[in-house]
Amino acid sequence: MPTYQQTYRMQPATAHPPQQSPARYTRLSVHPVSGALGAEVTGAELGDCDAATFAELERALTDHLALFVRDQALDPEQQIALARRFGPPMPWPYAKPLPGYPEITELRSEPEDQYNFGGSWHQDSLNFERPPKITMLYGVECPEVGGDTSFSNQYLAWDTLAEDLKEKLTGLKAVNSAAKSYSGQVGTDEVKDHTATPLTFTLDQEQEMEHPVAQTHPVTGRKALYVNNAFTARFSGMSEEESLPLLHQLWEHAITPEFTCRFRWQKGTLAIWDNRCTMHYAHNDYAGCRRVMRRIPIEGDRPV
Ligand code: SIN
Repeated sequence: MPTYQQTYRMQPATAHPPQQSPARYTRLSVHPVSGALGAEVTGAELGDCDAATFAELERALTDHLALFVRDQALDPEQQIALARRFGPPMPWPYAKPLPGYPEITELRSEPEDQYNFGGSWHQDSLNFERPPKITMLYGVECPEVGGDTSFSNQYLAWDTLAEDLKEKLTGLKAVNSAAKSYSGQVGTDEVKDHTATPLTFTLDQEQEMEHPVAQTHPVTGRKALYVNNAFTARFSGMSEEESLPLLHQLWEHAITPEFTCRFRWQKGTLAIWDNRCTMHYAHNDYAGCRRVMRRIPIEGDRPV
């Protein structure tokens, strides 16, 4: 029998236990969408839900990390009111807001657009001192096919690292940069001219922020990997050149297919995800179609 050098690595079995055994809910029905994270929620009218239903929604978000609720008729005021129940909305300074609603960025792709918003794996806005803990995204107009969003469970990403690597990374910080994310490509006229989302990034908004490479979630107490290729420029105290080999290894590990789920949108769907323990990726596979979403990030604490 010929022998070959094995250049691939098989993924050992993983699971995020709440996906297999969701808690009991009385107001909501919760249907996990993969073994790693994400659940569709039915039975809720989120525009006007009572305190008991909202408490179940928060519990489901803690357990499943990303929630998808279809058939919600939410106008901008109702979406903002729901966001406020999780915490203060955090206006996003790099695009013109939806007129009359400083809390909302309208992510808009027109049929002729080349580029979409969020088309690389990331947690939101790591360049801020207190990045958003949660993001809410509402589908106003969605393509028949394409434009899905994928999510990845960063608890699993951390838990499955080798013990010696976890030791090396524990206590280490990384520098996250708005310029890396927005000026390199997104801030260029080429991209601004080829997306209908009204981006306004300029280099004087450049901002760097240190955060732990693994942050401890303030609610669950679990560690989650907290670096991404959209914002993370280097490890603190190291050059880019020294940092990149290990960062690339972590970025690749963070999006292992077994840590992910992929969600297909419909008009009227609301997605709510926890940025402290997930990453997400907006698929740009709907050329020729329109996609319009309303996005509200919700302020978090400084990651520790
Ligand atoms: C985002 O990155 O916040 C947008 C995700 C999406 O439009 O699917």
